[in-house]
Amino acid sequence: MFARTMLVLLLLWTQDAVRSLRLVELRVPTHEPEGGMALLGCQYDMEGDTLYSVKWYKDGREFYRFVPKNDPPVYYFPTPGVSVEISRSSNTVVALVNLTQESAGHYRCEVSGEAPKFTTVFRQKYINIHLLPKGRPRVTGLKEQYNFDDMVVANCSLPPSRPKAHLKWLVNDKPAPSSYILGPWYRVSAERPDAAETILQLSFYATTSDFINGAIKLKCQATIAPLYQRETESTHYIALPYSIGTDAPEAKEIKDDATVVDDSLASLLIPIIFLILL
Ligand SMILES: *[C@@H]1O[C@H](CO)[C@@H](O)[C@H](O)[C@H]1NC(C)=O
Ligand SMILES: *[C@@H]1O[C@H](CO)[C@@H](O)[C@H](O)[C@H]1NC(C)=O
Repeated sequence: MFARTMLVLLLLWTQDAVRSLRLVELRVPTHEPEGGMALLGCQYDMEGDTLYSVKWYKDGREFYRFVPKNDPPVYYFPTPGVSVEISRSSNTVVALVNLTQESAGHYRCEVSGEAPKFTTVFRQKYINIHLLPKGRPRVTGLKEQYNFDDMVVANCSLPPSRPKAHLKWLVNDKPAPSSYILGPWYRVSAERPDAAETILQLSFYATTSDFINGAIKLKCQATIAPLYQRETESTHYIALPYSIGTDAPEAKEIKDDATVVDDSLASLLIPIIFLILL
């Protein structure tokens, strides 16, 4: 009897303690590319209250309102950089399309209960909009073959991006020493003054230890975290008098992303398989 009374009291107490409109989750991406779309999610728990409205704001300005009592329940306020696809939006989701630089900002979801309390809860998050480069890093200045003590000089350049990209040179899959590197340089784009091309130069004298089985592998990696990472790779063979073996390999190969991903996946998996075998 006592236990049951305690249980009832406890239930009443917990019900009372949480019996208030609650914003459960605001699901908003932190980074999106220009031209893309974003789904903004706002999950709430009415806890017995009745929904009066869900409102969305960008940088303090209301752009979307859902009021179930209205017909239609959705209202959209035209706002620069905010293109809402109404057909895909509801009380819990807002679909933003055609993202531009202007779309970056603080997005707030605000949920209100009915009269007389009009309890209101809100949460907000920042969305960064990046301009991703069209294409992969481009490598210029390399020769098909090199000899010992030849100077290897190359530029890696990435089409305009915002923010600026991080470029990295690798020689035989190891980061190039800083003494091999010049730059980076940034060239502001003529058609997009908010974006810049990134250039990084590699230059070094090829020594015997740089040739592995008669070849040097060079790679330029470009990163704009967390949305973009691509690389361009080429293999350069030692000039003919020093050539080892009779079947001269292809002078130059550019690997595709897919191969590179496979390679790194394999290098991840092999130690795992090895561990399992142990
Ligand atoms: C997005 O852009 C396309 C192409 O310019 C246009 O047809 C469409 O109406 C835009 N969508 C919204 C919701 O503004
Ligand atoms: C590499 O780029 C820099 C900066 O734009 C330029 O001065 C240099 O001539 C370029 N070198 C090669 C080998 O393309």
